[in-house]
Amino acid sequence: MNHAHTLAFPAAAPHDDNTIPVFARRLGSWQFTLRRRALRPDELAARYDQAAPGWSRTLDRLGVPNAYETLLRTALKDEPSLYRAPQARVLDCGIGTGALSAALADALPVPFALKGVDISTRMLARARARLYGTGIQSSLQQGDIQALPFDSNQFDLAMTAHVLEHLAHPETALWEMFRVVKPGGLILVCLTRRSPLGAYVQLKWRTHRVTGHETETWLRDAGLENVRCLPLRGGVWYRQLSVACIGRKPETLI
Ligand SMILES: C[S@@+](CC[C@H](N)C(=O)[O-])C[C@H]1O[C@@H](n2cnc3c(N)ncnc32)[C@H](O)[C@@H]1O
Repeated sequence: MNHAHTLAFPAAAPHDDNTIPVFARRLGSWQFTLRRRALRPDELAARYDQAAPGWSRTLDRLGVPNAYETLLRTALKDEPSLYRAPQARVLDCGIGTGALSAALADALPVPFALKGVDISTRMLARARARLYGTGIQSSLQQGDIQALPFDSNQFDLAMTAHVLEHLAHPETALWEMFRVVKPGGLILVCLTRRSPLGAYVQLKWRTHRVTGHETETWLRDAGLENVRCLPLRGGVWYRQLSVACIGRKPETLI
């Protein structure tokens, strides 16, 4: 399937433009748009390396582990394909300190083989330490979600939490996730919500901030079907901060 030039991401910038929209208003025939340069991968890696020691504590304070676990339970409970395979293959893109993968271990009552990618070596080191004791069979490596170091059609589930919003061109990463997921496999994303707390995150980290509807559009434009937003429970702060959506790669690509 060739996606080139056929998909319209509402918030995407032209490809030579590395900016993220912060504000957009239409007033009659006027269109006001304020954009900010996204942090480059090397800048993000440096910032997350610095944030790594306190990252899990911040997530705990926001109620994120609990929210991830309930999210994954809800999202995956009617997904027999994940339970049928002898061992489901899962990819966590921008795994950070491993919170989403650890939550999956609690939410999915079958063993799974995990691969994780992140640009920050210090976040990866924390994730390794965290997942070591969980019994998850995992292999984590440094890499960019925009050029995933995996063959196509491998994973039953690819998930990413709060990574796509960092990218001026999130579609590149979504197409990569689409590529590596098996036909019929799932892609689950969590993104920073268009909310006051989301505005704080946007200001601090130069991220996108999206509605559920925009997130669904991103996933549909990436070629996914059965796209839907998922309710977030647990973690009152996290609910203010996030949207979560899931979609399926079609069994047959036209
Ligand atoms: C907000 S943290 C989220 C971490 C984890 N997913 C979680 O939910 O706790 C974003 C993570 O994405 C990683 N990251 C940012 N840009 C990336 C990229 N282009 N490729 C891979 N990882 C990236 C950062 O290093 C960081 O660990």
